[in-house]
Amino acid sequence: MLSSTKSTNFDLPKVVAASEESSELSLRPNKFSDFIGQKDLKKSLNIQIQASQQRHEALEHILLYGPPGLGKTTLAHIIAKELSVNIRITSGPAIERAGDLAAILSSLEENDVLFIDEIHRLNRAIEEVLYPAMEDYVLDIVLGKGPSAQTVRLSLPQFTIIGATTQVGSLSSPLRDRFGSILKLKFYSPEDLIYIIQRSAQVLKVKIDNDSIYQLALRSRGTPRIANRLLKRVRDFAQVHNHGVINSNIISQALDLLKIDEVGLTETDRKLLFSIIKFHQGGPVGLDTLATSISEDKKTIEDVYEPFLIQLGFLKRTRQGRVVTSLAYKHLKLKINKKSNQAKLL
Ligand SMILES: Nc1ncnc2c1ncn2[C@@H]1O[C@H](COP(=O)(O)OP(=O)(O)OP(=O)(O)O)[C@@H](O)[C@H]1O
Ligand SMILES: [Mg+2]
Repeated sequence: MLSSTKSTNFDLPKVVAASEESSELSLRPNKFSDFIGQKDLKKSLNIQIQASQQRHEALEHILLYGPPGLGKTTLAHIIAKELSVNIRITSGPAIERAGDLAAILSSLEENDVLFIDEIHRLNRAIEEVLYPAMEDYVLDIVLGKGPSAQTVRLSLPQFTIIGATTQVGSLSSPLRDRFGSILKLKFYSPEDLIYIIQRSAQVLKVKIDNDSIYQLALRSRGTPRIANRLLKRVRDFAQVHNHGVINSNIISQALDLLKIDEVGLTETDRKLLFSIIKFHQGGPVGLDTLATSISEDKKTIEDVYEPFLIQLGFLKRTRQGRVVTSLAYKHLKLKINKKSNQAKLL
């Protein structure tokens, strides 16, 4: 049986149980042809890959950014595979000292890919070591301390850094400028999500009809990771309640239990919107106040909840703060009383 605490998994896509993580791996496409959607991004990546292969050079450094679960890590693996090179994986917070980075860089082979996840969390001292490595493939190592310290320059093989971030604005501009291309992953259309769910259903050997796939696609927040997770939860629900048969009725029941509405909003999304409406007359309200009033972390609001609410046109970011739009009132079935500026249920 699904417990209500499971629904928090949907609220916080970064928090994934170990078993979920391993099954995510099995659903991860490992070639471009299985990587659905993001057409423009794929086109420009393909050209860049072909050109670098023709010139027998390492691919230029690439920065991938966008909300969680849209395919940044997946793409990094696919790029390395297309190039037939090794991929080394690390992340901004994992590199604590300049020596850690030096060790990783000096272990790379010609044309290898170094994937740095959460690159916005690299500390500035380490960034300094990265600049000459990215630009000139050299590593400056300081030997000794004080006035007798000497800098030794080591040359590195040509390599490619693929950086991934959910917060491109937090990257320092010298670091951002050293990427040959900066590519944004967008939310997926329901049509793309239909293909993704179909493919995942095949991999997981789940029987599901087209109408049910469509229902799931509409509620997946434009995010493949969520689409896959919903598919698995619905599969569990169908197994327990309907002999494994998934249909529209089962989808509605399962998603009602998970408190996911017909456009994919979770309890926290609704709480966020209601809080702005109820306590701040629809906004504008600052991020700090909003985070306190719904007891959520600021970064989680910015990374996970807001991008989709903005995409739906339910929320606007203004200079003065966050504002709920009339579309959101309509979706929540609320009406604004112009005189008192208070919202009422329709
Ligand atoms: N374009 C796609 N086609 C098919 N499946 C996809 C696609 N993009 C992502 N997925 C699925 O979604 C899952 C999550 O993708 P991924 O881990 O690459 O996201 P991410 O952008 O790195 O997220 P995070 O910011 O949380 O690290 C993958 O395991 C894969 O199953
Ligand atoms: Mg990732």
